[in-house]
Amino acid sequence: MSGPYSALSHLECARCGARHPAAQVQGLCPCGSPLLARYDLGRVGGLAGRAVIAARPPDLWRYHELLPVSAAGQVVSLGEGMTPLLAMPRLGRALGVPGLLMKDEGLIPTGTFKARGAAVGVSRAAELGVTGVAMATNGNAGAAWAAYAARAGLRSLIVMPTGAPGITRAECLAAGAELYLVEGVIGDAGRLVAGMVPGRAGYQDVSTLREPYRVEGKKTMGFEIAEQLGWRLPSVIVYPTGGGVGIIGIYKALQELRELGWVGHALPRLVAVQSTGCAPIVKAFTSRARHSEPWPGPRTVAFGITVPHPLGDFLVLDAIYATGGTAVAVGDEALLADQREAARLEGVFICPEGAACITAVRLLRESGWLSGREEVVVLNTGTGLKYPYTGRQDVPVLPPAGAGPG
Ligand SMILES: Cc1ncc(COP(=O)(O)O)c(C=O)c1O
Ligand SMILES: [Zn+2]
Repeated sequence: MSGPYSALSHLECARCGARHPAAQVQGLCPCGSPLLARYDLGRVGGLAGRAVIAARPPDLWRYHELLPVSAAGQVVSLGEGMTPLLAMPRLGRALGVPGLLMKDEGLIPTGTFKARGAAVGVSRAAELGVTGVAMATNGNAGAAWAAYAARAGLRSLIVMPTGAPGITRAECLAAGAELYLVEGVIGDAGRLVAGMVPGRAGYQDVSTLREPYRVEGKKTMGFEIAEQLGWRLPSVIVYPTGGGVGIIGIYKALQELRELGWVGHALPRLVAVQSTGCAPIVKAFTSRARHSEPWPGPRTVAFGITVPHPLGDFLVLDAIYATGGTAVAVGDEALLADQREAARLEGVFICPEGAACITAVRLLRESGWLSGREEVVVLNTGTGLKYPYTGRQDVPVLPPAGAGPG
């Protein structure tokens, strides 16, 4: 006899702890904080174990008991999940961290890890009766949610800064999204979306952490890292942090696995990587603060991490403090150099946000925070193909009738 598809129990406010029902559409807690999904973990053990999961198809729905969607028939999927966890021996040696691994989210529908949050978020929204998803985005999330909304037959309303990667506009429009640009940052887009949604029946504001299920999709990166290492955890996980949903999700996944007894007690040290052009979390961490201050005049080529005042700042900081991790800011020139280095030494054309993690490893090894003996997992959150302007294109042109250099 098979048990329920999901062990979802209720939602819990991340700040005040208030309990909210999960069976209806939910936004923020009345106290203004994000809600997190809670599962009946005692029950999961009886429904599935590591061996059962191993026999399932290689996508993120293999962890369905620990995801919020109630039935297999409600799943909206484009085949997302189980991205490769690649050893990076040559790059690792060059950085002085031979145990370097990279989880490559470039190989997922829509080309970024945002597909995970979109698959789970759209599936759950559709299941609860939402007919349109509305969001502010730095581009990649909008492209992913527009794609999954199209797949689900939902409408999508997306607002992004004019500076977001141009390809993400094309992706949204191709998927039939109602798309607007704003001359500003993601927070300005958020205010516009919040003003538009109340006038539109059936729409939900699904901007970063304003609904509880995107983080559930993203936490599957944490499950996969553990499973791909044989249900063992690395010493350090390095994550490019904008809104923080990825690092919050990975931390949540690791806590759930620990509570299930599927991994050991010690958690990896979590590292939040930001840009020197927008580093509110790093600044807060440096002063051991619990919240961040808005970052003035944010600017970086790693556009996905341009989030000057993240709503979930306290959750990112909690994850770092609780695991003995750290927060590092890196410059654009350094991260672009490491984007080239990763391609030259390992053949991977990674996104600027992923490259920022490589630079962070370099800096942490130089400062001695990393001894060089650790197993370090960096997240490449997307393919470099979405940022073609970051690669060199200056190439000699040969006359068709002439000869090339010997
Ligand atoms: C490629 C890429 N990496 C990282 C991030 C940061 O995401 P998070 O909200 O998980 O911090 C984004 C967000 O737009 C992104 O597009
Ligand atoms: Zn609350």
